[in-house]
Amino acid sequence: MVKSKRFELLEERDINKETFVEPWAEAGLMVADSPYDPQPSITIEDGVITEMDGKSRADFDAIDLFIVSHALDVDIAREAMATPSQDIARMLADINIPREDIAVIISGCTPAKLCDIMKHMNVLEMMMGLAKMRIRRKPANQAHVTNWREHPALLAADSAEAALRGFAEVETTVRVARFAPFNALSILVGTQTGRGGVLTQCSVEEALGLKLAMKGLTTYAETLSVYGTEMTFVDGDDTPWSKAFLASAYASRGVKIRFTSGTGSEALMGRAEQKSMLYLEARCLLVVKGAGSQGVQNGSISCIALPEALPGGVRAVLAENLLASMLGLEVASGNDALASHSSIRKTAKLMLQFIPGTDFIFSGYSAIPKRDNLFGGGNFDAEDFDDYNVLQRDMQIDGGVKPIREDEALNIRKKAAQAIQAVYRELGLPEITDEEVDAAMVAHSSDDMPERDIVPDLEAADKFLAGDSNFVDVIQALQNAGFEDVAENILELGRQRIAGDYLQPSAIFDDQFNVESAINDPNVYTGPGTGYRPQGDRWDEMQAIPQAKSPEGFIDEQLGEPLSRLAELDVADKGIQSEVVVAVGPAFGRVMTKTIGGLEHEDVLKAILSGVASEGMVARIIRVYHTSDCAAIGYVGARLSGSGIAIGLQSRGTSVIHQKDLAPLNNLELFPQSPSLTLETYEHMGRNAARYAQDKQAVPVSVKIDNGARLRLIVKTALLHRRETDEVQDDQPPMELRFDWEPDV
Ligand code: 5AD
Ligand code: CA
Repeated sequence: MVKSKRFELLEERDINKETFVEPWAEAGLMVADSPYDPQPSITIEDGVITEMDGKSRADFDAIDLFIVSHALDVDIAREAMATPSQDIARMLADINIPREDIAVIISGCTPAKLCDIMKHMNVLEMMMGLAKMRIRRKPANQAHVTNWREHPALLAADSAEAALRGFAEVETTVRVARFAPFNALSILVGTQTGRGGVLTQCSVEEALGLKLAMKGLTTYAETLSVYGTEMTFVDGDDTPWSKAFLASAYASRGVKIRFTSGTGSEALMGRAEQKSMLYLEARCLLVVKGAGSQGVQNGSISCIALPEALPGGVRAVLAENLLASMLGLEVASGNDALASHSSIRKTAKLMLQFIPGTDFIFSGYSAIPKRDNLFGGGNFDAEDFDDYNVLQRDMQIDGGVKPIREDEALNIRKKAAQAIQAVYRELGLPEITDEEVDAAMVAHSSDDMPERDIVPDLEAADKFLAGDSNFVDVIQALQNAGFEDVAENILELGRQRIAGDYLQPSAIFDDQFNVESAINDPNVYTGPGTGYRPQGDRWDEMQAIPQAKSPEGFIDEQLGEPLSRLAELDVADKGIQSEVVVAVGPAFGRVMTKTIGGLEHEDVLKAILSGVASEGMVARIIRVYHTSDCAAIGYVGARLSGSGIAIGLQSRGTSVIHQKDLAPLNNLELFPQSPSLTLETYEHMGRNAARYAQDKQAVPVSVKIDNGARLRLIVKTALLHRRETDEVQDDQPPMELRFDWEPDV
């Protein structure tokens, strides 16, 4: 078969490393609207739901039963189900309808009804819906901090940096389950060094997770997983009731909880019962609500690659985020697990949550390199920090983080590594050496860390978990070692658990330990001029990426002392001899002395004059004052030239060969990409101008094409042009210049 070179190249692109599959409804490989999904319906008799979504009460499975008992408001249901789905969809997209009005109707909707509403919405409308239905006013972000060595100093340093970068929550997990208490401890100490009030969790088996929370080593728990079919629950030994019980156990000790669900898990476990992913997720979300959880981590989460393999997958994931917010749940909206090889695709997907804003735009931004991510690789990683900060700055959208400087990062990383070193020492755990602290301070990844003997670490972890030690011992240790501020932050977290205010929906702490939640800081978006947008200090902080330079800096490099060889004589006359005029811009050789490409103006003049001389012609130099425009400078020169030929030269180096009878904006040769011009090109320019002046043929100067030049230099170009334009004097005629130098011919 004939092969296309273009298709061959496309095959190699990142996007074609993905797996794409055609839908298969029977296997649940369909993101929404499966032909097997039920139609919405409800029957209520004497205040009891006796039928839902085409199934009578006698046929209800455990999930149906849980939903009708705990998640549906029977008083609202009849009216809600009778409201056309399209009307509700339109309310969601309509800026004039406040979120509370919609929330009331949603409380009476069955899973099939929720899907039926989504059916009418495109992603743009869903984004409008999400911007309005998100429950907390300000979006936030969650980070993942892990490393494959499970090094405590690196965990502490990375979580301190994550806290400094502004993440409101930090999640860790384990490679070896026995490390759980120390990983939890390390990120607790690390975050509270970086910024007091960052919530932390360690994602492990649920009984162990609860134990860590009871010990005060974690302050929230998130992986209370629920599923949309009964058999997937059964596979995990769980029921909606057991999950609700577990949630209450956490909450009873002042630990914030959030459930996890997301499209694709049931299909992945082979138990989708022919239903679409979104329909099963709607069931999950009603279970989450019924279990009394304040929020949910959803957006397919670990299963994301599965919906993304199917048509409409990214839209369906947005739909599930929106459904969660419609139910009044805090949403940590995925974007955590690696979802694509293609940076175009992963960024495009992110925009669906980033632009409207969710409670946590990432339910785990990988604040570590991809290789160190024990959650299976992040969709955005530490390598993408600067990109992400620029996205915030580009769109004036608060993505929940801020740019930091290298010195700030190093300081906080060192302090956190020293703090965990001190805790290990005070608690009699295996030593963390100074060498390890120093390595953690500057490390990018596990590879930069010295190897630790993990056997004694694991033994100590077992002992720590089995014993009575808890966060109070950690506070004491920090206090003894002189880390009073870190100790104080951890103590404050303990106090907050007793106060319990951060159990409110969508609660996080600001850096003064004030709760910001859907109760005291609700999202009230009703269109332009309302709701949250980053302004004032927050916008200043988002703009201040360390890479941004001051505009003056761009110009200063180009300024210099006036060229001593270049003297200004009289007003330039019209030439009568055969000559080439070299017309320079108003700042040339007097205010600016270098081209944008760094060539000295003096050398540029020498090159041009040599070129002209090599063709046996003389050049006359004039300076144009009344314009800084390249074509105009060249045109003025041409009209003053005895031969009618001139080279126009702006101070930044942009040049043109002009002829007096051409239209002002036409030319013989134009050199718009001044950064690519070399002394050889200027010399060639001189030669060609001299040949044109003698009516000889010339081969146009070939210039290297650099498509990145404009991208790199447009700021500098604009500023230099502005500087030259500052030198324009409207009534000053072109002046004759004398260049005190002779080309040797
Ligand atoms: N549905 C339910 N639970 C999920 N988790 C991840 N993705 C999903 C999903 N789509 C939970 C699992 C996993 C943890 C990281 O989050 O419990 O172990
Ligand atoms: Ca998470």
